[in-house]
Amino acid sequence: MGILRATSENILKAAESLRSGNIVAFPTETVYGLGADAFNPQAVAKVFAIKERPEFNPLILHINSIEQLKLVADCINPFFEKIINSFWPGPLTVVIPKKKIVPDIVTAGHQTVAVRMPSNRVALELIQKLGNPIAAPSANIFGRLSPTTAGHVEDQLGNRIEIILDDGPSEVGVESTIIELTDEKVFLLRHGGIPVEEVEAIVGEKIEQKISEENPNAPGQLKTHYSPSKPMMFIDELGEKDLSGKKLGGLFKTGITTDYNFTSAKILSKNSDPHEAAANLFIFLHEFEHEDIDMILCERIDDSGLWQAIMDRLEKGVSNFRT
Ligand code: TXA
Ligand code: MG
Repeated sequence: MGILRATSENILKAAESLRSGNIVAFPTETVYGLGADAFNPQAVAKVFAIKERPEFNPLILHINSIEQLKLVADCINPFFEKIINSFWPGPLTVVIPKKKIVPDIVTAGHQTVAVRMPSNRVALELIQKLGNPIAAPSANIFGRLSPTTAGHVEDQLGNRIEIILDDGPSEVGVESTIIELTDEKVFLLRHGGIPVEEVEAIVGEKIEQKISEENPNAPGQLKTHYSPSKPMMFIDELGEKDLSGKKLGGLFKTGITTDYNFTSAKILSKNSDPHEAAANLFIFLHEFEHEDIDMILCERIDDSGLWQAIMDRLEKGVSNFRT
């Protein structure tokens, strides 16, 4: 079947496919997800296999209502309601104590579950037509670039899944921000679509980061992730590296700042708009994979808000190629 336009009819087809235990790629406002019926452990197992993802790396449950939230998790943190009321539906995931109904394979055996209510209308309609939460990681092969178009999904997984629902480019373009809520405390596990400063404004204090590169609890935080198939380096780390004869791609924040001879140079946002930059990020990195260049040089971004989420992806992309 391949890529299907996200019409109501096709969303129904996809929901029926999920109900029979198959895997469907679907749009969210952050990145495309690789979904399974969350209450069907065999289906969830297929997600891990298709993605080549280690089974110790838990998935996010995508829900469409507070009733579904109550079905899967429980949270007594005093900020919880305020946080979800402020950011749902939207690019924020909460890690909270799970209920028994959630299969162990979804949470990799942990007693907590990651939950998010996406704002993308196709995602919400798909969950509603399935009638269960959808367990989904980003729809890429483990460690590779996240997909923000149906074409990106097809490139990596087209021969492994039947249906890719197409709703155009993802609006946000980086994955959700993940926060963990224990009984009393709030921790940041991953920078993402909601700037951490906005969550801090709700909580009324600075949020501690629990971002460990080696933490198997949250492998989104693994050092190497989001890697393009071509070497990627920060310009300020090149030192005396010999680049002669190399065809270069360049990735910049608001304008070209170096005089290398780039075969292809891309600017995340000329107006310095982080939303535009985030939406462009994975699109540009995927383009570089297809262009006639040997390596990607990128500018370091020192900035707050959504820029941090962008820098986090660049940092992880570059890590793979550091020696
Ligand atoms: O925007 C997003 O979050 C996208 C869309 C599809 O919703 N999904 C996504 O999923 O980025 P994934 O699987 O690529 O990243 C989920 C992250 C992983 O790093 C995982 O370790 C972490 O969430 N995670 C899931 N459950 C967790 C838990 N119980 N405790 C700690 N981390 C958890
Ligand atoms: Mg991912």
